[in-house]
Amino acid sequence: MGAGIAELCALNGLDVRLAVSRPASLESAPRRLAASLDRRVAKGRLTPEGRDAALAAVSVGTDLGDLADRELVVEAVVEDEAVKLAVFSTLDKVVEPDAILASTTSALSITRLAGVVQHPGRVLGVHFFNPVAVLDLVELIPTLLTDESVCRRAEEFVTALGKKPVTVGDRSGFVVNALLIPYLLAAIRMVESGYSSAESVDQAMESGCAHPMGPLKLADFIGLDVVAAIAEALHAESRQPLHAPPPLLSRMVEAGILGRKSGRGFHSYA
Ligand code: CAA
Repeated sequence: MGAGIAELCALNGLDVRLAVSRPASLESAPRRLAASLDRRVAKGRLTPEGRDAALAAVSVGTDLGDLADRELVVEAVVEDEAVKLAVFSTLDKVVEPDAILASTTSALSITRLAGVVQHPGRVLGVHFFNPVAVLDLVELIPTLLTDESVCRRAEEFVTALGKKPVTVGDRSGFVVNALLIPYLLAAIRMVESGYSSAESVDQAMESGCAHPMGPLKLADFIGLDVVAAIAEALHAESRQPLHAPPPLLSRMVEAGILGRKSGRGFHSYA
């Protein structure tokens, strides 16, 4: 998500600083960005000059201190509340008081993230969708404490990127994941119970409902660890059985079978 958001910002003329969590990403992140921009050039949708400008607009480092002069920071670390809280706590000390601190969390409470920040009025959720380049929606999630001016600036930011913002309440899953995750979990339970194969479930929803990908392919695409983490967060808030991760999903995550990114999920990506 971080790579997709950085690319989108750079293509829209913004000065982007990418703080990566692993030193190996110092080399791989610019390579990945260049490869993605090259694909746009090959399709005739970007000039070579536009690619060079976008590449030059993104600098990469590992130190959150490098973000000190940013007007807006979008946190996109792993979907783990303790990790996100630590990042927010550091950002609060590093970034100027009038800068916006945004999170791309899919299901964690924005209010709790704002709780570790001195001025919680500057915190809100800015939730992009994967692939960032393709999907228009961005959910904007103000808390009860978010400043009106911060909401307005975040909406201007998202609109300037060519995305369609919708403002939603700070409830686990917001709108999209509150509706999407129970559907994905129901599909996983169908496979778990032997009711249907992953192939048949996906084929049914692709051919029967014109979905671009069936629910098991989509779960693999999102990442099974991410689906499980969102389900846990939804379940912790709602206590409803429909949000509980099915044991099959938990076992797959424990086994490192994480979907597309690990080469294997409900389908194989060898
Ligand atoms: N980055 C950039 N562009 C991409 C891309 C990527 N990762 N993947 C696909 N595309 C582009 C392709 O370049 C292609 O563009 P053009 O038509 O302009 O050439 C277009 O998307 C279609 O791609 P493909 O022909 O390769 O493949 P497809 O038609 O099967 O589409 C898909 C692939 C766009 C991923 C489509 O299957 C899709 O939209 N799936 C649903 C995705 C979805 O529901 N995402 C939401 C997940 S939930 C989430 O993100 C939030 C959360 O908190 C978990």
